Amino acid sequence: MQEVGVIASNARISSTPMLIYKNAEHLVKEESLVIVRDSKFGKVYLGVLRWLSKYDPLLTHTQRAAIIERPELAEESIDLPFEASYIRILGEVVDGKLRPPSYPPTPRSKVYIIESSEDIQLDLGYGLEVCIHKYSGLPIPINPEALRYHIAVVGTTGTGKSRLVKAIIDEVIAKTNWSVIVFDHTGMDYVRYYPSRVVNAEEIAVDIDTVSQSLANSISSIKEHIENYMPITLLYYTMCIDTKREIKACLNQNENSILGILQTPTLNIDKIEELMLSISRKGLWNADVLAQMARLIANALGAREATSEKLSLYIKLYGRTHIDRLNKVTRKVADILDMVYRNRITVIDLSIVETEIRRVIVKGILSKIWEVVVDSREPQNILVVIDEAHNYACDKGCYPSNAMIEKTLREGRKWGIGTLLASQRIIDFSPDIRNNINTVFFSKLQTPYDFQQLQNFIDLAGIGTETLSLLETREFFFAGLGNPLRYPMLVQVKMVGEPN
Ligand SMILES: Nc1ncnc2c1ncn2[C@@H]1O[C@H](COP(=O)(O)OP(=O)(O)O)[C@@H](O)[C@H]1O
Ligand SMILES: [Mg+2]
Repeated sequence: MQEVGVIASNARISSTPMLIYKNAEHLVKEESLVIVRDSKFGKVYLGVLRWLSKYDPLLTHTQRAAIIERPELAEESIDLPFEASYIRILGEVVDGKLRPPSYPPTPRSKVYIIESSEDIQLDLGYGLEVCIHKYSGLPIPINPEALRYHIAVVGTTGTGKSRLVKAIIDEVIAKTNWSVIVFDHTGMDYVRYYPSRVVNAEEIAVDIDTVSQSLANSISSIKEHIENYMPITLLYYTMCIDTKREIKACLNQNENSILGILQTPTLNIDKIEELMLSISRKGLWNADVLAQMARLIANALGAREATSEKLSLYIKLYGRTHIDRLNKVTRKVADILDMVYRNRITVIDLSIVETEIRRVIVKGILSKIWEVVVDSREPQNILVVIDEAHNYACDKGCYPSNAMIEKTLREGRKWGIGTLLASQRIIDFSPDIRNNINTVFFSKLQTPYDFQQLQNFIDLAGIGTETLSLLETREFFFAGLGNPLRYPMLVQVKMVGEPN
């Protein structure tokens, strides 16, 4: 630990100016951690350097100086400039712990720079070790309590968000009793690391309305004609196909009316979903049969001959891949949740399915977690990880996942349901979501507007957008509740290598 300067006049409890020794100028950097030893009052302070500046007593840019006529003077007085900085006081070090300071450090107190974590004995509490302070190497653990108060990781593409999230996940598994469900938007960020814990989104059952809408989308050119027929067709298919009767007979089973089946007393949403899953498991989804059924139903409901023919034809032509894929469904949402609790971690590979279905799956799993809470009234201790979260948590266009994510951020803390959201753009989170995030890792941002938004909900303590733009991969500011220093810190995330 090297002595680098002294506290100057006008020291305050939160922030104090310092003068830097000539021979130490090369050691101090913006964001360096320092110790202040106040020998007059026997106190030790921990602080971080901010607003490092170089001054020249003879060269003020608003005053005329001889140098403008005699540039050679610049070289003659090269030793005149000096360096000064502000120290943001993080606390007083008492018995190895950080305490809020009660007095400002006395001017003339010596300042020492922390160059390695061995320079200081500081107990920052038990936590998730994912990063160290960039210059001192001091580990800054994430307080695990912060999980239930939600964490966001923001930065442009390539800043290292997904690797940071991976580091957090591994620490959660190693050091807490929480389980983790990861929604892997790209299918490339987490799937590779946990290959034995991956569920393909295609395997997960979704509700009949979602199936119907996405099927309608896949044959979208005649969407206006099919929108009404599709859900009804699917419903009849679900009710009929497993009965091993002729389709016509099944359709007409009740009072010889096409709508008869809908009066079946046992018809409810759970039953339908059970039947759909059973059809999938038996591999009974068949585009030709569905097309035939759609035609019969459209006819019975009074569609023009051309419409019902077209519907049937388009299902066969454009819906086949989609319908075949329904045969891959094998798991209920409840099964996924069981897996999460059993294995501690489950990764959902969302990359294979359409964006709308991805949102439905996120919503479905979150809803199930809340159902369990309502039934059991017990904390769940589950971390929900959503990468590329702007696709799920935005205000407009993210239905239906956004509403469930909002609820989880608002009410999750009480029931041990935490979220870890990674995104390029914080402004794409709905306000309700933004306002309930209490710990943030942020790096280079896409636009100055993103920076302003960040400022609105987290104390940035003077960090400017220009500082952020200098950050390299793996470097973030760590701010908020989870940071035991309670002050945004420049950290470097530990190495997270490629999967084996
Ligand atoms: N903690 C890390 N350890 C090792 N390499 C990293 C780390 N963070 C980022 N990288 C490198 O940067 C690349 C981009 O990181 P990634 O986490 O995918 O960024 P983002 O999710 O922000 O787009 C990675 O492929 C890797 O090469
Ligand atoms: Mg990423």
